[in-house]
Amino acid sequence: MWIGTADMPDKSDKWRIRMVEGRQMSGGLLNMVDTLGSYLQQQGQLCDRLEEIADSLPDSADGVLCIETANQMVRMIKSAHSFEEEELFPAIMAAVEDRLALEPVFDRLKFEHWEDEENAACVHEALCAFAVRRADSNVESLSWMLRGLFECLRRHIAFERDHVLPMAISLTARQFD
Ligand SMILES: [Fe+2]
Repeated sequence: MWIGTADMPDKSDKWRIRMVEGRQMSGGLLNMVDTLGSYLQQQGQLCDRLEEIADSLPDSADGVLCIETANQMVRMIKSAHSFEEEELFPAIMAAVEDRLALEPVFDRLKFEHWEDEENAACVHEALCAFAVRRADSNVESLSWMLRGLFECLRRHIAFERDHVLPMAISLTARQFD
Protein backbone atom coordinates (compact mmCIF):
# COMPACT_ATOMS: atom_id res chain seq x y z
CA MET A 1 0.00 0.00 0.00
CA TRP A 2 1.51 3.28 -1.10
CA ILE A 3 0.78 6.26 1.05
CA GLY A 4 1.81 9.87 1.47
CA THR A 5 2.60 10.48 -2.18
CA ALA A 6 -0.03 12.89 -3.42
CA ASP A 7 1.33 16.13 -2.04
CA MET A 8 5.04 15.48 -1.89
CA PRO A 9 7.10 18.26 -3.52
CA ASP A 10 8.47 16.60 -6.63
CA LYS A 11 6.20 13.53 -6.66
CA SER A 12 9.21 11.35 -7.51
CA ASP A 13 9.63 7.79 -6.34
CA LYS A 14 12.02 8.77 -3.57
CA TRP A 15 9.13 10.37 -1.69
CA ARG A 16 6.97 7.28 -1.74
CA ILE A 17 6.46 5.70 1.64
CA ARG A 18 5.51 2.07 2.04
CA MET A 19 4.41 0.52 5.32
CA VAL A 20 6.50 -2.32 6.61
CA GLU A 21 4.34 -5.40 6.23
CA GLY A 22 2.57 -6.29 9.45
CA ARG A 23 4.50 -3.65 11.41
CA GLN A 24 2.57 -1.92 14.19
CA MET A 25 3.31 1.62 15.28
CA SER A 26 4.59 1.91 18.81
CA GLY A 27 3.48 4.53 21.29
CA GLY A 28 0.10 5.33 19.76
CA LEU A 29 0.55 7.37 16.63
CA LEU A 30 -3.01 8.59 16.94
CA ASN A 31 -2.00 10.64 19.97
CA MET A 32 1.08 11.80 18.12
CA VAL A 33 -1.06 13.16 15.28
CA ASP A 34 -3.04 15.21 17.78
CA THR A 35 0.12 16.38 19.51
CA LEU A 36 1.76 17.38 16.22
CA GLY A 37 -1.37 19.27 15.16
CA SER A 38 -1.40 21.10 18.47
CA TYR A 39 2.28 22.05 18.27
CA LEU A 40 1.89 23.28 14.67
CA GLN A 41 -1.04 25.42 15.76
CA GLN A 42 0.85 26.82 18.76
CA GLN A 43 3.88 27.64 16.60
CA GLY A 44 1.63 29.33 14.04
CA GLN A 45 0.13 31.48 16.79
CA LEU A 46 3.64 32.30 18.00
CA CYS A 47 4.55 33.51 14.50
CA ASP A 48 1.49 35.76 14.44
CA ARG A 49 2.50 37.16 17.84
CA LEU A 50 6.09 37.78 16.69
CA GLU A 51 4.82 39.54 13.56
CA GLU A 52 2.47 41.66 15.67
CA ILE A 53 5.41 42.75 17.85
CA ALA A 54 7.62 43.46 14.83
CA ASP A 55 4.89 45.59 13.25
CA SER A 56 4.41 47.56 16.47
CA LEU A 57 8.09 48.49 16.94
CA PRO A 58 9.22 50.70 18.41
CA ASP A 59 6.64 53.01 19.95
CA SER A 60 3.53 50.81 20.02
CA ALA A 61 5.24 47.66 21.22
CA ASP A 62 3.79 46.25 24.43
CA GLY A 63 6.68 45.53 26.83
CA VAL A 64 4.70 42.95 28.81
CA LEU A 65 3.77 41.14 25.59
CA CYS A 66 7.46 41.14 24.60
CA ILE A 67 8.51 39.57 27.90
CA GLU A 68 5.66 37.03 27.91
CA THR A 69 6.35 36.00 24.33
CA ALA A 70 10.10 35.75 24.93
CA ASN A 71 9.62 33.59 28.00
CA GLN A 72 7.06 31.25 26.44
CA MET A 73 8.53 30.73 23.00
CA VAL A 74 11.88 29.10 23.77
CA ARG A 75 10.30 26.42 25.97
CA MET A 76 7.45 25.78 23.52
CA ILE A 77 9.73 25.55 20.48
CA LYS A 78 12.12 23.15 22.25
CA SER A 79 9.22 21.04 23.49
CA ALA A 80 7.79 20.76 19.96
CA HIS A 81 11.19 19.82 18.54
CA SER A 82 11.85 17.23 21.26
CA PHE A 83 8.48 15.61 20.58
CA GLU A 84 9.17 15.39 16.84
CA GLU A 85 12.74 14.15 17.13
CA GLU A 86 12.32 11.75 20.05
CA GLU A 87 8.82 10.36 19.38
CA LEU A 88 7.24 11.24 16.04
CA PHE A 89 10.12 10.84 13.58
CA PRO A 90 11.30 7.51 15.10
CA ALA A 91 7.71 6.20 15.07
CA ILE A 92 7.30 7.08 11.40
CA MET A 93 10.71 5.64 10.54
CA ALA A 94 9.80 2.40 12.33
CA ALA A 95 6.63 2.06 10.28
CA VAL A 96 7.86 2.78 6.77
CA GLU A 97 9.77 0.58 4.41
CA ASP A 98 11.64 3.24 2.44
CA ARG A 99 13.68 4.65 5.30
CA LEU A 100 16.57 5.72 3.08
CA ALA A 101 14.26 8.10 1.20
CA LEU A 102 12.88 9.60 4.38
CA GLU A 103 16.10 9.92 6.37
CA PRO A 104 17.43 13.05 4.61
CA VAL A 105 14.05 14.74 5.00
CA PHE A 106 14.08 14.24 8.76
CA ASP A 107 17.77 15.22 8.91
CA ARG A 108 16.91 18.51 7.22
CA LEU A 109 14.00 19.13 9.58
CA LYS A 110 16.27 18.44 12.57
CA PHE A 111 18.82 20.92 11.24
CA GLU A 112 16.06 23.53 10.86
CA HIS A 113 15.05 22.79 14.47
CA TRP A 114 18.59 23.57 15.59
CA GLU A 115 18.64 26.81 13.55
CA ASP A 116 15.25 27.91 14.89
CA GLU A 117 16.26 27.22 18.50
CA GLU A 118 19.45 29.26 18.05
CA ASN A 119 17.49 32.13 16.50
CA ALA A 120 14.77 31.91 19.18
CA ALA A 121 17.42 32.21 21.91
CA CYS A 122 18.78 35.38 20.27
CA VAL A 123 15.27 36.83 19.84
CA HIS A 124 14.49 36.00 23.48
CA GLU A 125 17.50 38.00 24.63
CA ALA A 126 16.78 40.93 22.30
CA LEU A 127 13.08 41.09 23.21
CA CYS A 128 13.84 41.13 26.94
CA ALA A 129 16.50 43.81 26.45
CA PHE A 130 14.04 45.91 24.44
CA ALA A 131 11.34 45.57 27.09
CA VAL A 132 13.71 46.59 29.89
CA ARG A 133 15.80 49.27 28.13
CA ARG A 134 13.78 50.38 25.13
CA ALA A 135 15.78 53.55 24.52
CA ASP A 136 19.06 51.62 24.28
CA SER A 137 17.79 48.90 21.95
CA ASN A 138 18.63 48.51 18.31
CA VAL A 139 15.07 48.38 17.00
CA GLU A 140 16.07 47.76 13.41
CA SER A 141 18.10 44.73 14.44
CA LEU A 142 15.29 43.41 16.64
CA SER A 143 12.76 43.80 13.83
CA TRP A 144 15.09 41.95 11.43
CA MET A 145 15.59 39.13 13.96
CA LEU A 146 11.87 38.79 14.64
CA ARG A 147 11.00 38.63 10.96
CA GLY A 148 13.79 36.15 10.27
CA LEU A 149 12.51 33.86 13.02
CA PHE A 150 8.82 33.85 12.15
CA GLU A 151 9.46 33.54 8.41
CA CYS A 152 11.69 30.47 8.94
CA LEU A 153 9.25 28.99 11.44
CA ARG A 154 6.33 29.48 9.04
CA ARG A 155 8.18 27.71 6.20
CA HIS A 156 9.04 24.82 8.52
CA ILE A 157 5.48 24.60 9.87
CA ALA A 158 4.02 24.67 6.35
CA PHE A 159 6.22 21.77 5.26
CA GLU A 160 5.31 19.70 8.31
CA ARG A 161 1.61 20.53 7.95
CA ASP A 162 1.62 19.65 4.24
CA HIS A 163 3.81 16.55 4.36
CA VAL A 164 4.67 15.18 7.82
CA LEU A 165 1.16 15.50 9.29
CA PRO A 166 -0.54 13.75 6.33
CA MET A 167 2.12 11.03 6.50
CA ALA A 168 1.42 10.46 10.20
CA ILE A 169 -2.35 10.47 9.55
CA SER A 170 -1.92 7.92 6.75
CA LEU A 171 0.16 5.66 8.95
CA THR A 172 -2.41 5.97 11.72
CA ALA A 173 -5.21 5.00 9.32
CA ARG A 174 -3.12 2.02 8.19
CA GLN A 175 -3.03 0.81 11.79
CA PHE A 176 -6.78 0.37 11.74
CA ASP A 177 -7.01 -1.33 8.33
FE1 LIG B 1 9.60 20.54 13.22
